[in-house]
Amino acid sequence: MQTLTVELEDRSYPINIGAGLLHQQSLLQAAVPARDILLVSNTTVAPLYAGAVREAFADRHVVEVILPDGEQHKSLGMAGRVFDVLVANRFGRDALVLALGGGVVGDLAGFVAACYQRGVDFVQVPTTLLAQVDSSVGGKTAVNHPGGKNLIGAFHQPRGVLADTDVLATLPERELQAGMAEIIKYGLICDRGFFAWLEKHIDAVRGREAQLLSQAIYRSCQIKAQIVGRDERERGDRALLNLGHTFGHAIEAATGYVEWLHGEAVGVGLLIAARLSQRLGGLTEQDVERVRQLLERAGLRTDAPRIGAARAASFMSADKKVQAGRVRLVLLRAIGEAYVTGDYPDAALQDTLQAQFGA
Ligand code: NAD
Ligand code: GLY
Repeated sequence: MQTLTVELEDRSYPINIGAGLLHQQSLLQAAVPARDILLVSNTTVAPLYAGAVREAFADRHVVEVILPDGEQHKSLGMAGRVFDVLVANRFGRDALVLALGGGVVGDLAGFVAACYQRGVDFVQVPTTLLAQVDSSVGGKTAVNHPGGKNLIGAFHQPRGVLADTDVLATLPERELQAGMAEIIKYGLICDRGFFAWLEKHIDAVRGREAQLLSQAIYRSCQIKAQIVGRDERERGDRALLNLGHTFGHAIEAATGYVEWLHGEAVGVGLLIAARLSQRLGGLTEQDVERVRQLLERAGLRTDAPRIGAARAASFMSADKKVQAGRVRLVLLRAIGEAYVTGDYPDAALQDTLQAQFGA
């Protein structure tokens, strides 16, 4: 097992990464000190992995909420049903919410933990690659609103993250690939050595070779933990983690959140950010080709849907990253060097959107 720490003074917490962690009962018991535990999972993950959690906490009071599977259930209505269970069981401020699942379960359970009785503890047990490298770390919790994704949420850090890499064995191929986009993102943001490492090992990582997959998860979490430690509330550096996301969110929104997985949309978003960066003189054509090839080898889509530049721009301007009416973009000076800016020529953005999304 490898352990990292998200350094946030008295709210610092460990990220444990390793094979078989779900079966290390003493580790789970130490990570979850509460007597009353609300286990939140979904109909796909619970039959596979909730048994191990139940066994570890056989001497505690565990109540389970099993959500239907899917992004459409990351809603205020579903959160309301989870609050009902907490209230019905008279759970107090010393209760703990344990999220067992991918980003959807983690975001919703975290949001419930942030709000219930003005905040109770929660622990993340992420079961998708995307959740292990991104959503379980950093304390962003949210549910969706019909008007937009993740619009209702709170920053609420978990008290620990337990990433058991063995659970990735049952993850569908497409979901694994979606997680790869976020891993590639970390290399692009701030570590060209990691990007080159991925170029070398992408086939093995994609083939779920245990040691290399763990290494990729570890380095991704390390980068995220460092950035969150510097800027928990996204007043500065944390926005770098949104590389590719503004374009990706436009794809997800324009296609109704069903056709494209979040990670797939982010993957194409990374390429669009790279192409715009090339237009602005940051990346070379060869750099952009490296990005395209790595995404392709990770099994990700590299062609944006033809949703139209105007529609893409309108979804981008509804994004949370708009400041004073201007979309702030994360761009690249080089592979491994991202920056955030609202200061770019509109024509360059417009031309890029037209080239990628169609007129
Ligand atoms: P997800 O939670 O929908 O999981 C993907 C699918 O895999 C689901 O069908 C799920 O049931 C299934 N699954 C999960 N673990 C499995 C396993 N081990 N074996 C078999 N099937 C398994 O999707 P996701 O990609 O994990 O998360 C996407 C969500 O995360 C989005 O809502 C996104 O907004 C959010 N997100 C949040 C943050 C953050 O910082 N909080 C960051 C990135 C993404
Ligand atoms: N996924 C972006 C962030 O956590 O800030």
